[in-house]
Amino acid sequence: MTALRDRYRLVALDLADLDIGDPDQCRSALDRHQPDIVLNCAAYTRVDDAESHFDIAQAVNADAPGIMAQWVDAHRAWLLHVSTDFVFDGGKPPPERYVEDDTPNPLSVYGQTKLAGENAVREQTDRHAILRTAWLYGRNGANFPKTMLRLALTQPDTDIRVVDDQIGSPTWSHRLASQIERVLSVRAQGTFHASSDSACTWYAFACAFLDAMNVPYRVIPCTTADYPTPARRPPNAVLENRALRQAGLDIMPAWQDDMMAFVRIHRDALIEETQETMAVSPDTRKN
Ligand SMILES: NC(=O)c1ccc[n+]([C@@H]2O[C@H](COP(=O)([O-])OP(=O)(O)OC[C@H]3O[C@@H](n4cnc5c(N)ncnc54)[C@H](OP(=O)(O)O)[C@@H]3O)[C@@H](O)[C@H]2O)c1
Repeated sequence: MTALRDRYRLVALDLADLDIGDPDQCRSALDRHQPDIVLNCAAYTRVDDAESHFDIAQAVNADAPGIMAQWVDAHRAWLLHVSTDFVFDGGKPPPERYVEDDTPNPLSVYGQTKLAGENAVREQTDRHAILRTAWLYGRNGANFPKTMLRLALTQPDTDIRVVDDQIGSPTWSHRLASQIERVLSVRAQGTFHASSDSACTWYAFACAFLDAMNVPYRVIPCTTADYPTPARRPPNAVLENRALRQAGLDIMPAWQDDMMAFVRIHRDALIEETQETMAVSPDTRKN
């Protein structure tokens, strides 16, 4: 968010401040703050839980963005809405990548509701940018590399099984914030893919990250079939940032470069945090 704080006066609201799944709360928060720009990063992101919680996923991922878009249109403001690679079914044969005008076909409730959110935004206003990103990680919150680190440090004698037949582009949230700032700076309108360049499997990402962290680990590859989950995930979730590139706005480097920068900056803090918590949880992969 530093990228945005430098340029905008930010009012950041989390679930404790505002439940966007409640339409009245959503409208009254917008009326109260009268933003020039609404940046919607909030979502019901528990991909597996969404399979059995359609109503809340729909309210948060689909209805709320529509309400924001309606407000933005009425108030001549602007909406930047974050969406996902999970709107696609991932059936393209690698190394083909998904471009913005490929036909979505979500495999999961999460993906369906996120797609419905995109459509609600498009129906309500032209005053929007939708950024589809993928495989996010960062310093804050739970995410895949942090889970790998925790498992490597807390269960050094246990094999960590990681799927090796789903590919995507690990994307640093800090870089995504800079990309959002770039898109907002020119009020670029439309739908944009915004993930790091080049791709890997979850297994390759885990190994590359733990190598960079310079910690011992025992990661072994497995297949999606070995690791059944309630929600289906796209096997090929690789996005091409074609629209950003054509608009001269793409700032996303290769995922390896950003991962190395992330480790360079945050390695010590990540190790310290993991050692402090030492609480092992199962896989926290989201999307
Ligand atoms: N993670 C990925 O790999 C990935 C990939 C593609 C796209 N995306 C998209 O990127 C965006 C951010 O995802 P993320 O991974 O950073 O997810 P996240 O860590 O789960 O963050 C989502 C945020 O939304 C908040 N939230 C959830 N329900 C809410 C509600 N009803 N009202 C207000 N706030 C609510 C959460 O609050 P609490 O923390 O209090 O629950 C959390 O701060 C989402 O739009 C997601 O669909 C993520």
